[in-house]
Amino acid sequence: MRIGVPTETAPGERRVALVPDSVARLVKSGHEVLLQQGAGEGAFYPDRDYVGAGAELAPDGAAVLGLADIIVKVQRPSPEEVAGLRVGTTLISFLAPAASADLLRQLAERNVTALSMELVPRISRAQSMDALSSQATVAGYQAVLLGAGRLARLLPMLTTAAGTLAPAKTFVIGAGVAGLQAIATARRLGAIVSAFDVRPVVREQVQSLGASFVAAEQVSGEGAGGYAKELAEEQQRKVLEAVGRHISDMDLVITTAQIPGRPAPRLITEEMIATMRPGSVIVDLAAETGGNCALTRFGETVVAYDVKIMGPANLPSTIPLHASQMYSRNLLTLLQHLLKDGGLALDLADEITGAMVVVHGGEVRQP
Ligand code: NAI
Repeated sequence: MRIGVPTETAPGERRVALVPDSVARLVKSGHEVLLQQGAGEGAFYPDRDYVGAGAELAPDGAAVLGLADIIVKVQRPSPEEVAGLRVGTTLISFLAPAASADLLRQLAERNVTALSMELVPRISRAQSMDALSSQATVAGYQAVLLGAGRLARLLPMLTTAAGTLAPAKTFVIGAGVAGLQAIATARRLGAIVSAFDVRPVVREQVQSLGASFVAAEQVSGEGAGGYAKELAEEQQRKVLEAVGRHISDMDLVITTAQIPGRPAPRLITEEMIATMRPGSVIVDLAAETGGNCALTRFGETVVAYDVKIMGPANLPSTIPLHASQMYSRNLLTLLQHLLKDGGLALDLADEITGAMVVVHGGEVRQP
């Protein structure tokens, strides 16, 4: 099969879908890889490394989109890219399927088979294909560094000739993949870390990373597939009370709380921000889905009550080399799952493939 890798065209996107190491493995298995010239440059993978791995270079995106049997991408394609896709081709990419009805229709019109990287099922067999997790790991790490860089104080405790500095207090709200990585990163930097989540099962994971768990009594938001569900009003009130009690003493707050397919839960009110210490920072990783904090603006930093509230966009792209390396490994494992005897064996009854295929046979299958 010929696998095509176009340069990402979304503004600010630096990642590339396949890195040279994965290309070499695909070529070794008998496939061809057609890469748009310079596609890896934003992530610091030069063309010569791809050529060394056995890739063919194409002069532009149109050549890749028009000639490959399978297109792999990071971000969902633009309408122009969809128009350039070969009829009947296969596309594997993040597609934000719940918010992309028009895109999915266009793909169906071109008889494209589309697999959404958001829909890798969260089962152990598919763990190494789980791009939401790999990219959330990068985001959780970067959120702490970003916040630490804007904080009015240092994170670690320091005993110096110029006096002793108390360690900063970091509070992580939402202890999923990004949150656990944020906890580990803040701990490595010497902060005192606490965390909150509505899924009681994460308490042990939080504690094993050396952070304390902030509990909201009688609150349980355990939903299906390891995800959280939306809380009833009474439970939401208890959550706000628990967060409100704790937050006024915090220096750096990282929020990551999400509910699949729903707007992000609102967990920090303006009144809570007013109680925080001047010079503290909130980094809201849920900014894209509306934010966990009432004052968050996606892609911006807002200052209110001397507190900085950051709503960064696309953090994985700001660490493009490693984010691409992990995404590429996710894709490689998926491709190895899909490619049998030199061809694409699409088994819609398969637990992984069936969950990911959003467009097939000229029809939108889900969501
Ligand atoms: P996510 O990005 O959907 O949500 C992040 C966190 O926010 C979750 O821990 C969730 O419980 C929390 N949250 C939601 N509403 C909240 C609220 N009102 N207050 C406080 N916290 C709230 O989830 P993510 O990080 O993608 O994964 C969640 C879980 O899925 C993991 O912790 C793990 O248990 C499971 N998982 C399983 C995998 C596998 O088996 N292959 C792979 C990855 C994750």
